[in-house]
Amino acid sequence: MLAGMSTQLTSYYDGPDLTGRVRDALRDAGVDPERLRIEDLAAMDQFHALGLPATLALAELAELKPGERVLDLGAGIGGPARVLAERFGAHVTAVEPTERFRRLAAQLNAATGLTDKIDLVDAHGHALPFDDESFDLVWTQAVLPNVADLAPVAAEAHRVLASGGRWALGEIVAGPGGELYFPVPWADGPKESHLLAPESLRTTLERPGFAAEVWEVGPAALAPAAAHAAAQPEETRPLPDIGLIMPDRDARMAGLGRNLAEQRFAPLVAVLRRAP
Ligand SMILES: C[S@@+](CC[C@H](N)C(=O)[O-])C[C@H]1O[C@@H](n2cnc3c(N)ncnc32)[C@H](O)[C@@H]1O
Repeated sequence: MLAGMSTQLTSYYDGPDLTGRVRDALRDAGVDPERLRIEDLAAMDQFHALGLPATLALAELAELKPGERVLDLGAGIGGPARVLAERFGAHVTAVEPTERFRRLAAQLNAATGLTDKIDLVDAHGHALPFDDESFDLVWTQAVLPNVADLAPVAAEAHRVLASGGRWALGEIVAGPGGELYFPVPWADGPKESHLLAPESLRTTLERPGFAAEVWEVGPAALAPAAAHAAAQPEETRPLPDIGLIMPDRDARMAGLGRNLAEQRFAPLVAVLRRAP
């Protein structure tokens, strides 16, 4: 994390090394941890609601093309980055401030043969170590709820995008149902959770010079991922899942479900275009 950063990240992001644990879990599941396919990891490495189908759907919505330069901001353990590189032919720069997530991402990139297509960078959305206009697409999935002050992140996303570039977001916003129940996957309590109402988020994100081309909140935001999920063959192998990384997984997932059912948050998918 950068010195002076004010955002408090969820306590479990910081913890013991994950590389050995994940290697063992893959081996126990009958998978060679040195030779992996995207599908072997999907239950664990897509660190956001609706998993791999949501990543595929968002990449299609953003019209990602082979060879495009993608900045995956808040890349986690690199699940979405690997999908964008392997399935869509993107060159991905994966920015992740949490050291043990980066270390695991490096291991999984190597085991999926994607090290050359994904650069892992220790940085933070408030201060990106890249030249102006060096990316075609900025990508955030399940990151903004962790960010207390979004304005500098939006300004940086705008600065590093080429003219006409896009920002694809798979995020959540505050809903009309009231305060959140905790814990949730991104927070133990309110100090770590920073949801904005949809209009307020849109204003903040568009201010540096973006215009929303896609902005779907609520059930409509889930529809493209749900269509992908329905078309995907059901996974029957007992593969390692997100519980390896997320302590109290069941309580956090229960909180997620209850908050969604009571409209205390709502899903958002968006594609913003940087003005030429
Ligand atoms: C829930 S995970 C999502 C990871 C990944 N985007 C995915 O969908 O699999 C949120 C990630 O955002 C990172 N993060 C939080 N605040 C950030 C910030 N301001 N800049 C960059 N990354 C951030 C965290 O370290 C964490 O890995």
